[in-house]
Amino acid sequence: MGASGRVGRTAAFCLAEENMVSKLVLFAREKSLARIEGESLDMYDAMAAKDIRISILSTCDIENLKDSDIVVITAGVPRKAGMSRSEIAIPNAKIVAEYSRLVAEYSPNSIILVVTNPVDVMTYVALKASGFHPSKVFGLGNHLDSLRLRNMLAKHFNIHVSEIHTRVIGEHGDHMVPLVSSTSIGGILLKNYALDGTIDMEGMVKKVINAGSYVINKKGSTEFGPAYAVSNIITTVLNDEKKILTVSAYLDGEIKGIKDVCLGVPVKLGINGIERIIPLKMNDNETAAFKSAAKFVKERTSEVMESLK
Ligand code: 2OP
Repeated sequence: MGASGRVGRTAAFCLAEENMVSKLVLFAREKSLARIEGESLDMYDAMAAKDIRISILSTCDIENLKDSDIVVITAGVPRKAGMSRSEIAIPNAKIVAEYSRLVAEYSPNSIILVVTNPVDVMTYVALKASGFHPSKVFGLGNHLDSLRLRNMLAKHFNIHVSEIHTRVIGEHGDHMVPLVSSTSIGGILLKNYALDGTIDMEGMVKKVINAGSYVINKKGSTEFGPAYAVSNIITTVLNDEKKILTVSAYLDGEIKGIKDVCLGVPVKLGINGIERIIPLKMNDNETAAFKSAAKFVKERTSEVMESLK
């Protein structure tokens, strides 16, 4: 839902070319219908080159979302250069709430993956508006940040990115928390890895925090990063892979007793959505940072929920 936008259409394309889904429904408002019809035709051409058989429907009729397995909500006002994710919260909350209610009506057994920013707040909005169980509604946030940090560490150490295991939790924004204490390279904890001089983790985290804005300043919006991150999550769910990915999930005390807020945390993901929120061991700095992320996101969330009344 939001397929006319850069992230939505690129995520749809990733899912098609990864041959992950048999049916894609590109949903957008009526004024964008011609645009998404063009997207679907263009995608079909690409699928012919990849010998992939797939049905791609472009529509503005919510009826066509009936009985979806997963609904990805990317709709909303995108951030412009210089804007924070929080600045677009109130207009986007109205869209996400409306779409989530429609999903609950037409696809009551689906999973909702929220991408719209600020994604931690929007995930909470989608959860409340849909009335779904918290295991069925989660957001793309820190999985993307974790991929970005992986990239930076791989470049720093000149090591293949697949050897870097790291995770960012907290807010998909300024209050993100890199789990340095559990970062490993080739299975060796970062603190035990033969560090060639000091690693400027703080500088790297600043770059991850600003990565989205940096790309937006250059090309107007991010798309390939979030699109493939969405595809990772959907592949893990549809293949029932039981991977541990960091998504924005509703907390009810599982981590440091934090409740009634959606934050990026490691979860075990499978065909039924979130199977388990992984209880985390963090060092004191990480715990303090995670708690301040929770406070910040909770305040933003209550402002937005107030605006929806
Ligand atoms: C990003 O950081 C879209 O918020 C997303 O690229």
